[in-house]
Amino acid sequence: MISARLPARFALLGAALALLSLDPAALHAQTGPTESVSTIYGIVVDPASKGDKVLIATEYGLLRARPDGMSELVPSLDAAVVALTADPEDPRHLYASGVDGKGKPIGLMKSPDGAATWSPVNRENPAALGSLAISRADPGLMVGLAKSVMISRDKGKTWQPTALTPEKTFTVVPSPTDTQTIFAGTMTGLMVTHDGGKSWANAGAGDKPTTMVATLADGTVLTFVFGTGLMQAKEPDLKWEILSDGFSDRYIVDIAQDPRRPENLFATMDTGAILTSRNSGKSWISFEGSDKATPERIARGEALFKKNCQACHGEKGIGEAPGDPGAKDEYGFKAPALNDDMHAWHHDDKGIMATISKGSPRNKRMVAFSKTLSDTDIEDLVTYIKSLWSIRSLACQGARHMKCM
Ligand code: HEC
Repeated sequence: MISARLPARFALLGAALALLSLDPAALHAQTGPTESVSTIYGIVVDPASKGDKVLIATEYGLLRARPDGMSELVPSLDAAVVALTADPEDPRHLYASGVDGKGKPIGLMKSPDGAATWSPVNRENPAALGSLAISRADPGLMVGLAKSVMISRDKGKTWQPTALTPEKTFTVVPSPTDTQTIFAGTMTGLMVTHDGGKSWANAGAGDKPTTMVATLADGTVLTFVFGTGLMQAKEPDLKWEILSDGFSDRYIVDIAQDPRRPENLFATMDTGAILTSRNSGKSWISFEGSDKATPERIARGEALFKKNCQACHGEKGIGEAPGDPGAKDEYGFKAPALNDDMHAWHHDDKGIMATISKGSPRNKRMVAFSKTLSDTDIEDLVTYIKSLWSIRSLACQGARHMKCM
């Protein structure tokens, strides 16, 4: 099993294949907060949506996640899903692998209709794939990860292991331009083969753990290097540049691109959070609340903050200055920072909204704003406050913060 070879910090990437011991009861929750999903193995844009919902591969099954923070079970695929990919030629064609409720690997399944129905492509060999991707250079070519890197040249019907598999491989993706080139994210960096897996070399993105590799419609190769950030390059030179950092000790597990709005990306984090980018990966916001996070509403939130909150919580939410008159109440509390210096990010959006509308039971200086501000005002304030946070804090928001201590 792959996970057995990986250090605990990256165990979830290999854990895809360890789900064989799953509790079948876990598969039957219908709708719940996305926050309660601890691990998301794969993500695609929901082809039935307007690009505002995503399908996520989880141990509870295939879920449809919405920007209101909730996820619903997609019952057509009754299995814990560990690998999920959309066909670049037709994004309604989805492929998945995983383990059913009885603990039996499901092989490779295909949906021709955006997850409405599924049928088997190959049940047995390999029985389960922990990473799965279709080539943009040749629509028949798929690569996957079982015990070794696997290649199919007939779209998943038959598979052959490559001659060599790099040590501690987490994830694989075929080159967007060449049918013999495959990238592999490994514990010691991004590896590349140009001969269909006979030999592998470091792809020049460093030698740190590389947890994600994906290709975009324009031929860009994206990779996530732990401690460095999200990097991009084009073939054939592969001159890597950092696209975004600020992830600190968190990492991206999978990325999906909206085929209709290619600048919109969705990323799943090791904490189980989903982030989204509207500028091809340069900056990221939480998927939760992303439907409200327009530049206009953030600017509105900032104006409301300056008027109602800044006197205590400081400019850009840095918190109350030590010498401020009234800075301390009788118990010695100051108005805390609402940027990510303190722990505002330990609360989910609903929790922060509740404090603003109801006030603090512990401190009468934090008054209830429900009489003076509308629900929309409070949403805009929260969206502004979250715009002050680092990517790391967004990935660690709410119940997930326990994973980030
Ligand atoms: C008169 C000073 C004051 C004003 C004005 C004020 N706050 Fe507060 N706020 C506080 C204090 C003091 C606390 C700490 C309460 C506690 O510890 O229970 C607090 C706590 C909070 C918290 C909880 C933070 C956490 O880490 O849990 C949030 C969120 C918050 N305020 C948002 C706002 C917003 C938004 C506004 C403007 C609409 C605002 N506050 C206006 C003093 C103020």
